[in-house]
Amino acid sequence: MTFKLTEEQLMIQTMVRDFAREVVLPTAMERDRSKEFPAENLSQMAELGLMGMMVPPEYGGAAVDTVSYVLALQEIAYACAATAVVMSVHNSIVCETIVRFGTEEQKQAYLKPLATGEVIGAFAMTEPQAGSDPVGQSTSAERDGDHYIINGTKRFITSGKNAGLTIITAKTDKAKRHKGISAFVVRKGMPGFLVGKTEEKMGLCASDTTDMIFDNCRVPAECLLGQEGDGFKIAMTALDSGRIGIAAQSIGVAQAALNAAVSYAKEREQFGQPISKFQGLRWMLADMVTEIEAARQMTFSASAKKDRGEKYTMEASMAKLFASEMVNRVTAKALQIHGGYGYTKEYPVERYYRDARVFTIYEGTSEIQRVVIANHLLGDRYVGTLR
Ligand code: CAA
Repeated sequence: MTFKLTEEQLMIQTMVRDFAREVVLPTAMERDRSKEFPAENLSQMAELGLMGMMVPPEYGGAAVDTVSYVLALQEIAYACAATAVVMSVHNSIVCETIVRFGTEEQKQAYLKPLATGEVIGAFAMTEPQAGSDPVGQSTSAERDGDHYIINGTKRFITSGKNAGLTIITAKTDKAKRHKGISAFVVRKGMPGFLVGKTEEKMGLCASDTTDMIFDNCRVPAECLLGQEGDGFKIAMTALDSGRIGIAAQSIGVAQAALNAAVSYAKEREQFGQPISKFQGLRWMLADMVTEIEAARQMTFSASAKKDRGEKYTMEASMAKLFASEMVNRVTAKALQIHGGYGYTKEYPVERYYRDARVFTIYEGTSEIQRVVIANHLLGDRYVGTLR
């Protein structure tokens, strides 16, 4: 199936591309150095409707489809991957989860501040001892009258310091494995909810990654998302969408690296001619653009399946797996094409290379994506036809 974008999707792509290249890109390198959270960019992005992209208009959102969202995210990631991950977690994991699982009261209370960018969203499932295996988490939530008391530590939380609202998972019944996990919406400033250490990272430096500590944190029972025991399924559903977001982010960074490599290869002369004339480099560039296109088609295809209301878990994992591994190959080649200059901070490729490294790790490692894909492939419902 070839993919043809609609007029509306093309309009969104152009609008976000112009904004990203004029506003977000010029400060990306400095932001990487200063590690400053892109608050100003995010508030401008909210004005363009980018912080509640799939939220219905009655809650202040733009209500566009996933394909449009993916186009927008690619453009932001092209300019600044750190800004893109904040946008991705906020839209795919936080807003969408509340749209899908929230009660009317929860939607009224939470979606508008998220969609208008007044509040940034975070998602907290990972713990020091529970990453790939979230069923092994030990954070607990005990019912106490019309409250829950939450205790535990979450780790590697994107936007942990800057988020005003966090979806967290905790065990409400330790005996029940995944069916004993519940999800809650926790607001900044709730008593007993503290932000812990901020990680010093290799890349995505302007996006904060922190611990979250819950020390007898009293959360009103109305903060429970879905029913008690729904938390694991809510988290897995959220991650299906999140993984499409990471695939889009990977494509944006890979495209930026490819464009940088093409410009450099045309400009840089060695042995009396531009290095773009050498077959060794031409073949590298040809492989890079081919892989980016493959990842783009996979991501569009998973997004379109989601937009049709079909189950898309396997396609999301395949897109995330392929795109995140692709961007690591593409950024490595882009750096190689730049030679010694690629290793310096004078050119952006070293940042692309560092930023991309986590894409095969967060929102499920490549190994976890292969587990998900193999489970679907070997299950009863796999038909293997193009749809
Ligand atoms: N959608 C809905 N339900 C799902 C589902 C999905 N995608 N995947 C699983 N489920 C359901 C199953 O149907 C099953 O339900 P029943 O009991 O009713 O049958 C239940 O969940 C358990 O499923 P599994 O037995 O397959 O679960 P598992 O324990 O074997 O784990 C896993 C599966 C795929 C390995 C999962 O644990 C996983 O995805 N791990 C990786 C976690 C991850 O991605 N962490 C990243 C955190 S977010 C982040 O990175 C931070 C950030 O801010 C960027």
